[in-house]
Amino acid sequence: MINIAILGFGVVGSGVAEVIFRNSKELASRLDGEELNIKYILDKREFPDHPLGNRVVNDIDIILNDDDVFLVVETMGGLHPAYDFSKKALLAGKSVVTSNKEVVAACGAELLSIARSNNIGYLFEASVGGGIPIIRPMWQCLAANKIDRIAGILNGTCNYILTKMEKEKTDFETALCEAQALGYAERNPSADVEGMDTCRKISILTSLAFGKHVYPEKIQCEGITHITYDDILFARNHGYAVKLLGMSKKESDGKVYVLTAPFFVSEENEIAGVNDVYNGIQVEGNVVGDVLFCGRGAGSLPTASAVMADVLDVIRDCRKTIGWKNEEADFLGDISNNVTDFYVRTKAGESVVKTVFGDVKTEKAGDGTAFFTGKMKQSDAEEKIALLGAETVKIRILD
Ligand code: HSE
Repeated sequence: MINIAILGFGVVGSGVAEVIFRNSKELASRLDGEELNIKYILDKREFPDHPLGNRVVNDIDIILNDDDVFLVVETMGGLHPAYDFSKKALLAGKSVVTSNKEVVAACGAELLSIARSNNIGYLFEASVGGGIPIIRPMWQCLAANKIDRIAGILNGTCNYILTKMEKEKTDFETALCEAQALGYAERNPSADVEGMDTCRKISILTSLAFGKHVYPEKIQCEGITHITYDDILFARNHGYAVKLLGMSKKESDGKVYVLTAPFFVSEENEIAGVNDVYNGIQVEGNVVGDVLFCGRGAGSLPTASAVMADVLDVIRDCRKTIGWKNEEADFLGDISNNVTDFYVRTKAGESVVKTVFGDVKTEKAGDGTAFFTGKMKQSDAEEKIALLGAETVKIRILD
């Protein structure tokens, strides 16, 4: 019997327990007949009606001091105390499997380095893309490539909201409530809709692709709270879908430009058709070309599926942890120098628009005016957009 402990018995942690129950035979068959046993669940709450209610403890030291616990699953969410408990577990010689993107994005390099020194695993497949295999495929299957670009729909909640708004002409708040009820959204959904969750995930993928830690604070981050149905309609009328993307691309100057923002994505691009809670991650490698990873990006069981894949890998002794170095990511470029075409919607009058942007073709969008700027440096676009007044929004067009 292999004993594990689950830290945090919320949406993902309880999903992990369910997968262990539901697929116990399959899991044992993949572990040479050995069964998995959830010896402890760490949570502040009691679960008296749950079959595992008697395993709940609220002192991490009980788990850390028990030599029978082979591995720790961290599904707590939030930075503290999840980071502190993960670090203690690794220092105590226990491998850690996590779904916690906040911890991996903020402290991954340190935790990976502790795991490496102790020859144990710190694995985080579930931290990006929910149930989609993306971390290990990038690390292993695309290892022969130089990565040129990652463009990903990385937040299920935002994709669900944008899809609902379009299909059902629902307002933003109603769509968000539904995403929360389905267990997709973070405890504080502003992390979803203001882009932080996507930002953490693109920080993890960029660190993995380029080998040094890219901290989320270095990434410009815009969310979807300002997107209206009129923007989505305008996009459709011009052959685009509006998607919140985490984007990371290597330009000819050798620098990597990273950004989280809503984009107009051409309907010809496969990720434009990735809808609802699904995530779609397009990776361009210099020898493989384009590869698309797609699947359920949030939710209890899809995320637990990815957690359990890591659990099996640790037990099957794939302990050389995946990861990157704790060094400054000196390959990052200044995103404000990046050249993009923008969609702009504004309440400024047409003559003001033409004075600032020249002879652009304007159209009505809701009670404002909308137009495409043509390609320009981000900082130049932002200077001009500022001249159009506060009630102006911009969305980038994906190349
Ligand atoms: N809130 C996240 C999402 C959960 O909606 O994608 C999965 O990381």
